Amino acid sequence: MTKKRSLYKRMVLTISLLCTATIALILTLFAVLVNSIRASTDNAALLHNVFLGTSIALLVGLYILVYFHIKRLFRPMQEIKKAVETVADGNFDLQIPVKTSDEFGELAESFNKMANEIQSMLKYKDQLLSDVSHELRTPITRMRLAAEMMEEGKEKDSMISDLKDMSHLVETLLESNRLNYGLSSLNKESFDLTDLLSSLVAEQSDTIPGIQFQPRGAVVISADLSLIKMLFRNLINNGLKYSAHQEEPIVIELIERSGEVMISIVDKGMGIPEKDLPQIFEPFYRVEQSRSKNTGGYGLGLSIAHKVVEAHQGKISLKNAESGGIIANVELPLA
Ligand SMILES: Nc1ncnc2c1ncn2[C@@H]1O[C@H](COP(=O)(O)OP(=O)(O)OP(=O)(O)O)[C@@H](O)[C@H]1O
Ligand SMILES: [Mg+2]
Repeated sequence: MTKKRSLYKRMVLTISLLCTATIALILTLFAVLVNSIRASTDNAALLHNVFLGTSIALLVGLYILVYFHIKRLFRPMQEIKKAVETVADGNFDLQIPVKTSDEFGELAESFNKMANEIQSMLKYKDQLLSDVSHELRTPITRMRLAAEMMEEGKEKDSMISDLKDMSHLVETLLESNRLNYGLSSLNKESFDLTDLLSSLVAEQSDTIPGIQFQPRGAVVISADLSLIKMLFRNLINNGLKYSAHQEEPIVIELIERSGEVMISIVDKGMGIPEKDLPQIFEPFYRVEQSRSKNTGGYGLGLSIAHKVVEAHQGKISLKNAESGGIIANVELPLA
């Protein structure tokens, strides 16, 4: 077992030593001064100056030494600070190397334990969600078959519609879980993003307030086609759903830059309160005003969009436009 070294005790010891040395030097100086006045010999002034200079040099040296010593003692604090920032960004893989056996060492150990606990809790949550979704698939299919046999009417329609929603939710959760495995789970292929966006726009040709998209030639990317489709379907659906009361259509733009392509989806809808923006990519997060039944949804679309973009090493951001509405920007690497 390593012997525990208390940082607090070492600090107290260093500061006590510094104080003692300072007092001793001041007393010596005082004694030299008194002696030189008493002796009042010819070289008394020289003696006095030599002692004064040496004492000051010693004192400065001592202070510099103590400064660097304390700085070294607190160096692990920097590593702990960096680790806390990394964890705050949602990366729990990090472990701080435990180099000292003092309070910082203990803090690093507790921090590593906490990060491990949180990571296993998150894994457990994902596993549970995935298992439950998986187990629900078969009974939902069975219920749907039974519902199809029911007598035609309002009840049958509403039951089938609810079961469709449940089935969509379960599929979305399973897809979202697959994305937790990142790049390794991607089925990459080369395809034209302009074509894909055009087909998504055509899918929604009858939905108000409409979509404005002017394709300008092929933009080829290498990515998982079904996931990229889901990403843009979610963003386009959001744009349409949350600006349905507006007259202006949503606008899709595609800009090629060096090595990447940026896709902007801009609507003139209700926007998102600034206080909600930091949590907007969290699963099941919905803004209060859109919880009403008429907008529907589970709050999963953006969390999936975020995971898809991350798995493709791209970037996604959502911000409020000055003129109202949302600007959703996605950056993806070109093939
Ligand atoms: N373009 C937008 N304009 C205004 N609010 C938006 C927009 N896009 C997303 N939001 C807000 O963000 C929340 C989360 O969006 P997200 O797409 O994840 O879920 P959802 O649309 O509610 O449900 P679904 O799971 O069907 O996508 C929405 O509930 C909505 O309040
Ligand atoms: Mg949505």
